[in-house]
Amino acid sequence: MKPKIAASILSANFAYLADQVAAVERGGADFIHVDVMDGRFVPNLTIGIPIVKALKETTRLPLDVHLMIVEPERHIEAFAKAGASMLSVHVEVSPHLHRTLTTIKELGAKAGVALNPSTPITTLESVSELLDFVLVMSVNPGFSGQTFIPASSSKIKEVRAMLDRVGSQALIEIDGGIKSSNAAEVVKSGANILVAASAIFKGGAPEANTRKLLEVACESIA
Ligand code: DX5
Ligand code: ZN
Repeated sequence: MKPKIAASILSANFAYLADQVAAVERGGADFIHVDVMDGRFVPNLTIGIPIVKALKETTRLPLDVHLMIVEPERHIEAFAKAGASMLSVHVEVSPHLHRTLTTIKELGAKAGVALNPSTPITTLESVSELLDFVLVMSVNPGFSGQTFIPASSSKIKEVRAMLDRVGSQALIEIDGGIKSSNAAEVVKSGANILVAASAIFKGGAPEANTRKLLEVACESIA
Protein backbone atom coordinates (compact mmCIF):
# COMPACT_ATOMS: atom_id res chain seq x y z
CA MET A 1 0.00 0.00 0.00
CA LYS A 2 1.25 3.46 -0.94
CA PRO A 3 1.97 5.49 2.21
CA LYS A 4 -0.35 8.38 2.93
CA ILE A 5 0.27 11.81 4.39
CA ALA A 6 -1.91 13.38 7.07
CA ALA A 7 -1.05 17.08 7.28
CA SER A 8 -1.44 18.26 10.87
CA ILE A 9 -2.71 21.84 10.98
CA LEU A 10 -1.22 22.35 14.44
CA SER A 11 1.72 24.19 12.86
CA ALA A 12 -0.36 25.98 10.23
CA ASN A 13 -0.97 29.72 10.18
CA PHE A 14 -4.51 29.82 11.57
CA ALA A 15 -5.16 33.26 10.14
CA TYR A 16 -4.95 31.67 6.68
CA LEU A 17 -6.19 28.19 7.46
CA ALA A 18 -8.22 27.64 4.28
CA ASP A 19 -5.22 28.66 2.13
CA GLN A 20 -2.89 26.43 4.12
CA VAL A 21 -5.22 23.46 3.72
CA ALA A 22 -5.58 24.13 -0.01
CA ALA A 23 -1.78 24.15 -0.32
CA VAL A 24 -1.31 20.73 1.29
CA GLU A 25 -4.17 19.41 -0.82
CA ARG A 26 -2.30 20.54 -3.96
CA GLY A 27 0.87 18.98 -2.54
CA GLY A 28 -0.80 15.56 -2.40
CA ALA A 29 -1.86 15.24 1.25
CA ASP A 30 -4.37 12.45 1.82
CA PHE A 31 -5.86 13.69 5.09
CA ILE A 32 -6.09 16.79 7.25
CA HIS A 33 -5.03 15.83 10.76
CA VAL A 34 -6.72 17.86 13.49
CA ASP A 35 -5.13 17.81 16.94
CA VAL A 36 -7.73 18.44 19.63
CA MET A 37 -6.18 19.14 23.06
CA ASP A 38 -7.92 19.93 26.32
CA GLY A 39 -5.25 21.18 28.72
CA ARG A 40 -5.89 18.12 30.91
CA PHE A 41 -4.85 14.95 29.13
CA VAL A 42 -2.10 17.02 27.54
CA PRO A 43 -0.76 20.39 28.76
CA ASN A 44 -1.77 22.31 25.67
CA LEU A 45 -5.13 23.74 24.55
CA THR A 46 -5.91 23.84 20.85
CA ILE A 47 -9.07 23.66 18.80
CA GLY A 48 -12.43 21.97 18.76
CA ILE A 49 -15.68 21.29 17.00
CA PRO A 50 -16.27 24.66 15.22
CA ILE A 51 -12.91 24.39 13.44
CA VAL A 52 -13.66 20.83 12.31
CA LYS A 53 -16.95 22.07 10.93
CA ALA A 54 -15.27 24.95 9.12
CA LEU A 55 -12.59 22.65 7.70
CA LYS A 56 -15.24 20.27 6.43
CA GLU A 57 -16.66 23.14 4.38
CA THR A 58 -13.32 24.13 2.94
CA THR A 59 -11.67 20.85 1.88
CA ARG A 60 -12.59 17.58 0.23
CA LEU A 61 -9.84 15.76 2.13
CA PRO A 62 -11.04 13.48 4.92
CA LEU A 63 -10.60 14.96 8.39
CA ASP A 64 -8.52 12.81 10.72
CA VAL A 65 -9.39 14.02 14.21
CA HIS A 66 -6.96 13.07 16.98
CA LEU A 67 -8.62 13.55 20.36
CA MET A 68 -6.08 14.27 23.09
CA ILE A 69 -8.79 14.87 25.66
CA VAL A 70 -10.09 13.20 28.79
CA GLU A 71 -13.47 11.48 28.49
CA PRO A 72 -13.37 11.48 24.69
CA GLU A 73 -16.60 9.45 24.59
CA ARG A 74 -18.50 12.59 25.62
CA HIS A 75 -17.52 14.39 22.42
CA ILE A 76 -17.22 11.81 19.65
CA GLU A 77 -20.73 12.27 18.35
CA ALA A 78 -20.26 16.02 17.99
CA PHE A 79 -16.94 15.57 16.17
CA ALA A 80 -18.42 12.96 13.85
CA LYS A 81 -21.37 15.21 13.05
CA ALA A 82 -19.00 18.14 12.49
CA GLY A 83 -17.28 16.14 9.73
CA ALA A 84 -14.60 13.86 11.17
CA SER A 85 -13.94 10.87 8.89
CA MET A 86 -11.40 9.32 11.24
CA LEU A 87 -11.56 9.64 15.01
CA SER A 88 -8.87 8.45 17.38
CA VAL A 89 -9.09 8.30 21.15
CA HIS A 90 -6.24 7.69 23.56
CA VAL A 91 -6.33 4.35 25.33
CA GLU A 92 -4.87 6.02 28.44
CA VAL A 93 -8.16 7.93 28.97
CA SER A 94 -10.64 5.44 27.51
CA PRO A 95 -11.72 2.93 30.17
CA HIS A 96 -14.64 1.76 28.01
CA LEU A 97 -12.67 1.41 24.81
CA HIS A 98 -14.84 -1.31 23.29
CA ARG A 99 -17.96 0.81 23.63
CA THR A 100 -16.22 3.99 22.46
CA LEU A 101 -14.88 2.37 19.29
CA THR A 102 -18.25 0.79 18.57
CA THR A 103 -19.91 4.20 18.85
CA ILE A 104 -17.38 5.82 16.51
CA LYS A 105 -18.09 3.16 13.89
CA GLU A 106 -21.85 3.48 14.32
CA LEU A 107 -21.44 7.20 13.65
CA GLY A 108 -19.87 6.32 10.30
CA ALA A 109 -16.27 7.29 11.08
CA LYS A 110 -13.12 5.16 11.05
CA ALA A 111 -12.17 4.21 14.59
CA GLY A 112 -8.63 4.50 15.87
CA VAL A 113 -6.80 4.05 19.14
CA ALA A 114 -3.81 6.24 19.97
CA LEU A 115 -0.97 5.05 22.19
CA ASN A 116 1.46 7.27 24.05
CA PRO A 117 5.14 6.32 23.72
CA SER A 118 5.12 4.62 27.12
CA THR A 119 1.85 2.71 26.63
CA PRO A 120 2.25 -1.00 25.87
CA ILE A 121 0.56 -2.40 22.78
CA THR A 122 -1.13 -5.23 24.70
CA THR A 123 -4.01 -2.83 25.43
CA LEU A 124 -5.04 -3.16 21.78
CA GLU A 125 -5.50 -6.90 21.60
CA SER A 126 -8.95 -7.11 23.15
CA VAL A 127 -10.39 -4.52 20.74
CA SER A 128 -8.47 -5.55 17.63
CA GLU A 129 -11.60 -6.51 15.68
CA LEU A 130 -12.94 -2.96 16.04
CA LEU A 131 -9.81 -1.12 14.97
CA ASP A 132 -9.65 0.68 11.64
CA PHE A 133 -6.30 2.19 12.57
CA VAL A 134 -3.77 2.48 15.37
CA LEU A 135 -2.09 5.81 16.01
CA VAL A 136 1.40 5.27 17.38
CA MET A 137 2.66 8.43 19.08
CA SER A 138 6.34 8.97 18.38
CA VAL A 139 6.53 11.98 20.73
CA ASN A 140 4.73 12.67 23.98
CA PRO A 141 1.50 14.31 22.83
CA GLY A 142 0.86 17.99 23.37
CA PHE A 143 3.00 19.97 20.98
CA SER A 144 4.28 19.97 17.44
CA GLY A 145 7.96 20.41 16.70
CA GLN A 146 9.26 17.71 19.05
CA THR A 147 11.92 15.14 18.22
CA PHE A 148 10.97 11.64 17.02
CA ILE A 149 11.55 9.01 19.72
CA PRO A 150 13.73 6.35 18.01
CA ALA A 151 12.09 3.36 19.78
CA SER A 152 8.88 4.21 17.89
CA SER A 153 10.06 2.31 14.81
CA SER A 154 10.22 -0.97 16.67
CA LYS A 155 6.85 -0.20 18.24
CA ILE A 156 5.34 0.12 14.75
CA LYS A 157 6.74 -3.31 13.89
CA GLU A 158 5.30 -4.80 17.09
CA VAL A 159 1.87 -3.31 16.39
CA ARG A 160 1.93 -4.67 12.81
CA ALA A 161 2.95 -8.11 14.01
CA MET A 162 0.18 -8.15 16.61
CA LEU A 163 -2.44 -6.99 14.10
CA ASP A 164 -1.31 -9.59 11.57
CA ARG A 165 -1.42 -12.30 14.20
CA VAL A 166 -5.10 -11.63 14.93
CA GLY A 167 -5.94 -11.12 11.24
CA SER A 168 -6.60 -7.37 11.51
CA GLN A 169 -6.21 -5.15 8.44
CA ALA A 170 -6.04 -2.01 10.59
CA LEU A 171 -3.69 0.68 9.31
CA ILE A 172 -0.88 2.18 11.35
CA GLU A 173 -0.55 5.93 11.67
CA ILE A 174 2.64 7.44 13.09
CA ASP A 175 2.51 10.86 14.71
CA GLY A 176 5.29 13.06 16.03
CA GLY A 177 8.59 14.31 14.68
CA ILE A 178 8.06 12.91 11.18
CA LYS A 179 10.15 14.57 8.47
CA SER A 180 11.95 13.69 5.25
CA SER A 181 14.91 12.21 7.13
CA ASN A 182 12.89 9.56 8.98
CA ALA A 183 9.87 9.04 6.69
CA ALA A 184 11.48 6.10 4.88
CA GLU A 185 12.38 4.40 8.15
CA VAL A 186 8.85 4.50 9.55
CA VAL A 187 7.30 3.33 6.28
CA LYS A 188 9.72 0.40 6.17
CA SER A 189 8.75 -0.41 9.75
CA GLY A 190 5.10 -0.66 8.69
CA ALA A 191 3.57 2.82 9.01
CA ASN A 192 0.78 3.45 6.48
CA ILE A 193 -0.14 7.04 7.37
CA LEU A 194 2.47 9.67 8.27
CA VAL A 195 1.32 12.68 10.29
CA ALA A 196 3.42 15.82 9.97
CA ALA A 197 2.91 19.35 11.23
CA SER A 198 6.18 21.26 11.46
CA ALA A 199 7.81 19.42 8.53
CA ILE A 200 4.96 20.67 6.35
CA PHE A 201 4.01 24.08 7.69
CA LYS A 202 7.21 25.53 9.14
CA GLY A 203 9.21 27.54 6.65
CA GLY A 204 6.29 28.73 4.55
CA ALA A 205 6.14 26.18 1.71
CA PRO A 206 3.42 23.71 2.72
CA GLU A 207 2.66 22.54 -0.82
CA ALA A 208 6.28 21.74 -1.69
CA ASN A 209 6.95 20.27 1.75
CA THR A 210 3.96 17.91 1.47
CA ARG A 211 5.08 16.79 -1.98
CA LYS A 212 8.63 16.15 -0.78
CA LEU A 213 7.51 14.13 2.26
CA LEU A 214 5.20 12.04 0.12
CA GLU A 215 7.97 11.42 -2.42
CA VAL A 216 10.41 10.26 0.23
CA ALA A 217 7.78 8.05 1.86
CA CYS A 218 6.86 6.46 -1.49
CA GLU A 219 10.47 5.95 -2.58
CA SER A 220 11.04 3.72 0.40
CA ILE A 221 8.54 1.16 -0.88
CA ALA A 222 9.60 1.36 -4.55
C1 DX5 B 1 1.31 16.10 18.95
C2 DX5 B 1 0.29 15.97 17.85
C3 DX5 B 1 0.90 15.88 16.51
C4 DX5 B 1 1.70 17.09 16.13
C5 DX5 B 1 2.80 16.66 15.22
O1 DX5 B 1 0.71 15.92 20.17
O2 DX5 B 1 -0.52 14.83 18.02
O3 DX5 B 1 -0.05 15.57 15.50
O4 DX5 B 1 0.95 18.08 15.50
O5 DX5 B 1 3.68 17.70 15.05
P1 DX5 B 1 5.13 17.48 14.39
O6 DX5 B 1 4.93 16.83 13.06
O7 DX5 B 1 5.70 18.86 14.31
O8 DX5 B 1 5.89 16.59 15.35
ZN1 ZN C 1 -1.83 14.26 16.26
